[in-house]
Amino acid sequence: MKHIPVLLESVKNALGDINGRTIVDCTFGAGGYTRAFLENGAKVIAFDRDTNVACDAEELKKTYGERFVFINAPFSEIKKLNKNDFDDVVFDLGISSMQIDNAERGFSFRFDAPLDMRMDSRTDLTAAQLIQKLSESELADILYEYGDIKKSRLLAKILKQKLPSTTFQLRDLIKNPNDVAPVFQALRIAVNDEMGQLKSALESVHDLLRVGGRCVCVTFHSLEDRIVKNTFRKWTESVGDPRLPSIGEAEYKMIRVALPTDKEVQGNPRARSAHMRGVVKV
Ligand SMILES: C[S@@+](CC[C@H](N)C(=O)[O-])C[C@H]1O[C@@H](n2cnc3c(N)ncnc32)[C@H](O)[C@@H]1O
Repeated sequence: MKHIPVLLESVKNALGDINGRTIVDCTFGAGGYTRAFLENGAKVIAFDRDTNVACDAEELKKTYGERFVFINAPFSEIKKLNKNDFDDVVFDLGISSMQIDNAERGFSFRFDAPLDMRMDSRTDLTAAQLIQKLSESELADILYEYGDIKKSRLLAKILKQKLPSTTFQLRDLIKNPNDVAPVFQALRIAVNDEMGQLKSALESVHDLLRVGGRCVCVTFHSLEDRIVKNTFRKWTESVGDPRLPSIGEAEYKMIRVALPTDKEVQGNPRARSAHMRGVVKV
């Protein structure tokens, strides 16, 4: 299935007039956001750690030339970009429809395939290797924290005994059918260190943006949303001791929170759990 960009209109509204601005799109995917930014006159530097999207990026490069740069690397690498050099940074987290629908990548329990789940197949351990490597209690913590699996200790014990190497083997070891999707999600988050990537990238964004620059994040998991919310809260709080007469002004201001409309969710079920938050550097 073609990837339909989620909350794109809200992201565009949060960014305002982008003509002539330099935007870092941290999650290129199918290029839905990047294309919209380029069509509206922005210069885009796009990251994606998935090697499979490089072809789509090449196509855009043919049309937009120097206004578009693609970097095939994890977005935590934005720390290498120059400070105060960018107008906006955008994240549309999680995985794309192309990744989940590509049977052999092992993201989905709908297809039988090796238990892989790596966004970047050049690095990282596969989900099967991760299950082998982790201790039972580390695995249980991942299932509980990222998947909210109530009987995480029991399931971790079973997984460590059986060491599933395919998606169907894993699926068949999960007794409660309601736990199948959350277990797959939890392992995917761990394989790709998604929370670590997000925390590290946000730390760099703080100093990358010019005054007037915006950071907009679309999240799909409550923990991701919490990381974004807490980071933005920290950036937007006044600094200093509030009991003293003069406290420093915060460097950032909140701009907007947006959720998908019922209509968007009907047309694109992936949008169901999406949250958008944004801040502007003042
Ligand atoms: C939801 S899709 C983005 C879709 C895109 N906004 C669009 O409209 O087509 C997320 C993309 O981000 C990439 N991604 C996720 N985490 C990443 C990371 N830490 N570094 C680089 N790319 C990442 C995934 O490989 C995937 O292609």
